[in-house]
Amino acid sequence: MAHRWTNDLTHDDVTPERAWLNRRQIIAAGGLAGLAATGLAPRATAAPEGLKPNTWEEITTYNNFYEFGTGKGDPAENAHMLTTSPWSITIDGLVDRPGDYSFEEVMEGMTVEERIYRFRCVEAWSMVIPWNGFELADLLDKVGVKAEARYVAFETALRPDEMPGVRFPVLDWPYVEGLRLDEARHPLTIMATGIYGRDIPNQNGAPIRLVVPWKYGFKSIKSIVRITLTEDEPPTSWNKANPREYGFYSNVNPEVDHPRWSQATERVIGSGLFARRQPTLMFNGYEEEVASLYEGMDLTENY
Ligand code: MTE
Repeated sequence: MAHRWTNDLTHDDVTPERAWLNRRQIIAAGGLAGLAATGLAPRATAAPEGLKPNTWEEITTYNNFYEFGTGKGDPAENAHMLTTSPWSITIDGLVDRPGDYSFEEVMEGMTVEERIYRFRCVEAWSMVIPWNGFELADLLDKVGVKAEARYVAFETALRPDEMPGVRFPVLDWPYVEGLRLDEARHPLTIMATGIYGRDIPNQNGAPIRLVVPWKYGFKSIKSIVRITLTEDEPPTSWNKANPREYGFYSNVNPEVDHPRWSQATERVIGSGLFARRQPTLMFNGYEEEVASLYEGMDLTENY
C-alpha cells in the first residue's frame, strides 16, 4: 500500500499514560536495546487540531465483550479470568504458511505504532482510543495469501471456564467476524496489542484484537485465536443473530439508520453527566481513506 497513516487526532499532553509501547512488545523485541533494530521505535504523532483521546478509565471500564457478560461494566469485572499468556493464533485456509503461531511469532517483524482512532459503536456511542498495533496487511504478507483468497475470517477464543458470559446463548459462540481481503489489507486496519502504550487490558481484547475504525465497533473482534483466509464471505456473529439489523459490511454511515434507532448522531463517552451528542461522520471520519473500497456499491443494500 502506498501511503502510511498519519494520526489526525491529538494526544492529551498532560496524560500520564504517554508511554507509547507496550511492555509485552518490548519483551518480544528482546528488550529496549532491540527496539530500534526492529522498527519498534516510539513515534510521536501530533496534529494541530483534533479530538482528545478518552481516558484510560473510560476506555477500560465501559466495554462490550459479551463473553464476560452483557453489562458495560461486566468485562472490566470478569475478564481478568482470561488466560492471555501463552496465546496462539491458528492462521489457516488459503495461505502459503498455515500453522499455529504463538503470540511472539505473530509479533516477530511487525511494526507497532500508535494509532489514535475514532471508535463508533453501533449502539450510537463513541470514543477516541490511542491504540498500539501493527497493520494486519503485514501479518497477511508474513503468512502469504494465496491468489484465490477473497475474505478474512476471525474467531475469538471460546473458554467456558474463563468466560462466564458464554453460558448464555446471547450469540452463537465463538464470536466470529470477517472482512473482505481489500478491507483487511487497508493501511487503517490494525491488530491492536496495546492502549496508551500499555498491554491491551483483557476487557479490551487481550492479547490481540482487530481494529477497523471506519466500521461499527462490533467488527473489531477481540482476543483472536484464529484467522482464516477464504474464498467465500464468512459468517459473522451479529449478522447470524439478526441479519436484518446487522450486515456483513457494517460501515459507519449516518444516513443508514439501525432499524431501531438513528445513526445520525452519537453520544460522546466521557462528556459528562449531560452527555454531549455529535454528528456521526460518514465512514466514521475516514471517508477520504476508504470510500474507494466501496465504489459502485449501494451502501443501503450492503449495510
Ligand atoms: N469481540 C468479542 N469477541 N465479543 C464481543 O462481545 N463486542 C464488540 C467488539 N468486539 C465484542 C467484540 C462490540 S459491540 C464493540 S462496540 C467493541 O468490541 C467494543 O470494544 P471496546 O470494549 O474495546 O471499546
